[in-house]
Amino acid sequence: MLVIALCKGRFLEPSLDLLSRAGIRFSEDVASSRKLIFESEDKRHRVVLVKPADVPTYVEYGAADIGIAGRDVLLETRADVLQPLDLNFGHCKIAVAGPKGTNGLAHATVRIATKYPHITMDYYNSRGIPVEIIPLSGSIELAPLIGLADRIVDLVETGRTLKENGLEILEVIAESSARLLINRAGYQTKRDDVRALIQALEKVVA
Ligand code: PRP
Repeated sequence: MLVIALCKGRFLEPSLDLLSRAGIRFSEDVASSRKLIFESEDKRHRVVLVKPADVPTYVEYGAADIGIAGRDVLLETRADVLQPLDLNFGHCKIAVAGPKGTNGLAHATVRIATKYPHITMDYYNSRGIPVEIIPLSGSIELAPLIGLADRIVDLVETGRTLKENGLEILEVIAESSARLLINRAGYQTKRDDVRALIQALEKVVA
């Protein structure tokens, strides 16, 4: 049996839709249930539901053979997993944003609120710009509005959250979308099953 880690939240419906089109279906309503483990109708796949940021961890440690997660999460966790396929949904940008019309800052060290401390540090280190990271886990856009930070580094999908809070993109760090993750050992030991699933998903994505 292959174990597949999926994210709770906005990736869940498109991930389940993709699996369904690849022939992996569930008799229960996975999206509305409170259960965390589901077996597929063919009894050959098990889906586990985890927080988006934890998907790479489950796959890296082999608790799941396969996962679906955003490139943002992969860049942040730096997990050692195979990434054979861009699943072509969940497109967004990882961007630096700040209040409109405040491109230059008076002080030397910029304070940046983010749930992506590694991505942020890598980005500014590579430019030799000193920053202070303020780690948050949500509602990042609030930070510059009430003086907690000068800037944010966050996901921008439609841009609506930035706009409605008087913020704008200052720099784009990277593009993100949903990726298929594979455990390195499982790719060898469960070779036929894993490759069959990759091929089925490739066809659906194409
Ligand atoms: C994400 C992200 C932005 C927002 C961007 O937050 O962190 O806040 O979506 O989407 P938009 O460009 O379409 O407005 P999420 O909804 O995951 O909630 P969070 O604030 O708890 O991170």
